[in-house]
Amino acid sequence: MFRDLNINNDRPVYLQIKDYIKELIIKGILQKDVKLPSTRELGEILNVSRNTIILAYEYLEDEGFIRIVKGRGAFVSDIKIKPQDNFNLSWDEKINDYARFAERLDIIKNEIKWEKGMISFKSISPDSSLFDMDEFKKAFLNRISMEGDKILNYGYAQGYKPLIEYLLKYMENKGVDVEGKEILITNGFTEGFDIVVSAITNKGDKIICENPTHNTAIKIMKLHELDIHGVEMDDDGMNINKLEEKLYKEEFKFVYIVPSYHNPTGIVTSPEKRIEIFNACRQRGVPLIEDGFNEELRYSGSHIAPIISLNGKGNGVIYLGSFSKILFPGMRIGWILADKDLISVLESIKRSRNIHTSFLDQAILYEYLKGGNFEKYLKRARKEYREKFEIAYKAAKELIPCRDIKGEGGLHIFVELRDINARDVLFECCKNGVIFTPGDIFYTDGKGKNTFRLGFSRVSKDEIIKGFKVIGDVVRKMEG
Ligand SMILES: Cc1ncc(COP(=O)(O)O)c(C=O)c1O
Repeated sequence: MFRDLNINNDRPVYLQIKDYIKELIIKGILQKDVKLPSTRELGEILNVSRNTIILAYEYLEDEGFIRIVKGRGAFVSDIKIKPQDNFNLSWDEKINDYARFAERLDIIKNEIKWEKGMISFKSISPDSSLFDMDEFKKAFLNRISMEGDKILNYGYAQGYKPLIEYLLKYMENKGVDVEGKEILITNGFTEGFDIVVSAITNKGDKIICENPTHNTAIKIMKLHELDIHGVEMDDDGMNINKLEEKLYKEEFKFVYIVPSYHNPTGIVTSPEKRIEIFNACRQRGVPLIEDGFNEELRYSGSHIAPIISLNGKGNGVIYLGSFSKILFPGMRIGWILADKDLISVLESIKRSRNIHTSFLDQAILYEYLKGGNFEKYLKRARKEYREKFEIAYKAAKELIPCRDIKGEGGLHIFVELRDINARDVLFECCKNGVIFTPGDIFYTDGKGKNTFRLGFSRVSKDEIIKGFKVIGDVVRKMEG
């Protein structure tokens, strides 16, 4: 039986031997009080040194699987796993409505999946080939050696202090008055939004958002059972008359907006519109949740300040920041900038959920950011994405018959077909190896059936053209 062990190079040999013997004991092949071969014998059988077996036996003894009796040898312990009749449940019957709803809303499970060889316009994640790995590795090593072992212990729910200080300064540089405000570090926008919604709403509350809007935000609001009121978008942002009309008619718990390179339309809310939206919320005393998504990607025109910067020392705007679509989404680091006392409450919610966002990740990100790497990276990323955007926008105009194409930069464009169902187009395109995101998932009211989003950040320039040709041909055929 010992001869059956295949030793490989993936793990230290003594650990492979230890695990193999453990498995034999757990499976009951080696039973209580059975004497194991001597270390010399087993070394010969497995063709390894005696010391390797001594080490393996020591670990088995430490873990309580064997007893070593001096002068007599190693004996299997009584590990007391006594298999009983199976205990089976029908989990399908136990799953609650919340879990079922979450699964239904899970587009990753429910939408067409990418298969090898396909051109996918589904993603709006950054192109990781733009990440500066050398600088990242340096940041990792520097921070680890500076912080030492404490960085691997528990940290603080609010976040890693140097990163918080950095982000406060970062927000100040965007024109925000941070006096009386604080930052809470979260696992990306997604957790930040969920925490804010948990803190200020109850089931059934009415909220306002753009229609269409970020599908994950819709999912979170639906899971909180909020009454979602979508306000349609004009070319310069949310329709202000509709917003004001709603705000004056009913009570709303908050207004959520994505003012820069809005997902999915790519619209950048104009400075004038930002002021109008801010004033509408201020006059009605309705909190404004501003999603700072992708505002760093601005590569033409002058700087457009976030809405929170209009509010001076005021506290009515909650800003949710995330570098996810620009830098390292896998690190899952975002932040909430808001009123100090509100942040203190949100911090308690964060602590109750997952104690804190990984301190190691926060520390490395801080080290990477503080050395000016982010600015250098942004310069490169903006140039690359601008080129891709220009190619994509022009190609879509030329190749895809449609009513309208929206997008002012960023990582995606949004297509409105004449009167064709985008899911039918997707179905046909998929057969030809091209996929994209149907627009209806972004709508609050089941509309947008003739729309779709094309993310181009991770598609090569050649494939953008190739893929759009396929989409254009399908649409042309359907239009007849
Ligand atoms: C509008 C919007 N906000 C924020 C995010 C980033 O979310 P996260 O930081 O959780 O990755 C996204 C990602 O797609 C988005 O579309």
